[in-house]
Amino acid sequence: MRLRGYGITSCPSCSFHILTGSVVPSTTENRHGYFTLSQGPDRQSCATSADLDARLWVRPLSEGSVKPPVFLTSTFVFRTAEEGRDFFDYTVGRRDPPAEGRSGLIYSRFNHPNLEIVEDRLAVYEGAEEGLVFSSGMAAIATAILAYLRPGDAILHSRPLYGGTEVLIEKTLTPFGIQAEGFLDGLDESSIRVAAECAMTKGRVAIDLYRNAVQPDEHAGRYRACEAYCRSDRQQARVSPDYRMRQHAARAGLPVAPRARRRSVDLSLTKYVGGHSDLIGGAVMGSRANLKLIRALRSAIGTQLDPHSCWMLSRSLETVWLRMERAAINAAKVAQFLSEHPNVARVHYPPLLPADVPARQLMERQSGSAGSTFSFEVRGGEAEAFAFLNRLEVFKLAVSLGGTESLICHPATTVHSGLTEEARCAIGITPALIRVSVGIADDLIADIGRALAA
Ligand SMILES: Cc1ncc(COP(=O)(O)O)c(C=O)c1O
Repeated sequence: MRLRGYGITSCPSCSFHILTGSVVPSTTENRHGYFTLSQGPDRQSCATSADLDARLWVRPLSEGSVKPPVFLTSTFVFRTAEEGRDFFDYTVGRRDPPAEGRSGLIYSRFNHPNLEIVEDRLAVYEGAEEGLVFSSGMAAIATAILAYLRPGDAILHSRPLYGGTEVLIEKTLTPFGIQAEGFLDGLDESSIRVAAECAMTKGRVAIDLYRNAVQPDEHAGRYRACEAYCRSDRQQARVSPDYRMRQHAARAGLPVAPRARRRSVDLSLTKYVGGHSDLIGGAVMGSRANLKLIRALRSAIGTQLDPHSCWMLSRSLETVWLRMERAAINAAKVAQFLSEHPNVARVHYPPLLPADVPARQLMERQSGSAGSTFSFEVRGGEAEAFAFLNRLEVFKLAVSLGGTESLICHPATTVHSGLTEEARCAIGITPALIRVSVGIADDLIADIGRALAA
């Protein structure tokens, strides 16, 4: 992994990574072998403070501040003309940058320190070679798609994608001569093959898009994955899955998976990574080779994230697994309570499925946890769902998910309202369906119980 020295650097005497300018809880348990400063050299054995600084790998970046500063600048000074030339060559891909170290800062549309800090940290968390951070999840998806597609190409994708991605394909890409073919059951290899063959008759299949198994808007029987398909060899395909931030990987101590080593993974950082419902951001993680074209397009069109939001993301990353772990514990309690309530028809939460159901096994294989976003159906239809939602006091009626607070929404009339009723029905979005994103507070059951009972 090439680290650029701002947020993470390598220990000079071994290959371990250390975080600079930040204190990260639980680093002793971190399987990537982070050092915290307290695990570094013995202070007593250092003769001078410079010696100590050198041995602690303290960088002069921020006058020793525990957190990195926010670099509010549009452009960066080159020390020499040669440096300017080299930095441009590296950034636009005419030459490879040095193996370890920075490719240089030029102009904040191309890169800036806060962007590099959060990208490097995300790459370590994801086990990806590199990461690119964007101004939204949709900016990440759109830039990745546009980097690889040409008129006449086709997209193979799982259904449903996130509504915004569906609209992007249908309304924006179709007029440019790009066609798409979707498949509904990602657990059924043969239906994926049929869709793949159909997509290939439409054009060169340049992109496969699929969402990960945890799809909170739908019932568990429809959890999808493309594992089987992705194991098959298809020429020319570049895989750029449309992933929501994987909900939880507490077992690994890390927030995100499946790992982005072989494929590119698009994430909406707005959700669990940002985690406080106070920013919009996105990322594409993957190999340097796969990200090259996407990076170049991001530089050209300026879909990168601003320094302040990047700074907030790097702060949020430090607690992501703590938040997710807590929220998942709360969600399990809420799901159990709902499943036993007489006014609830169904709860779509994989751990409630029998252990041998493929959808549950898939969730366990891919995610390790059901996370904290799921859906359930009240008895009745839209009227009963609305009445329940209007009686809630602690849950906030809002779209989005993955924040510290608990959010709840009615998918059929909000996030999936753009689909026809028939299409909604096909993907399990019924009028009685409610999506919930459970947060970190623990006073939720009383709220739900009150609203359901009335
Ligand atoms: C799966 C998925 N992808 C992409 C997005 C878009 O992310 P953003 O809102 O950050 O643009 C979302 C947003 O809900 C999502 O759920």
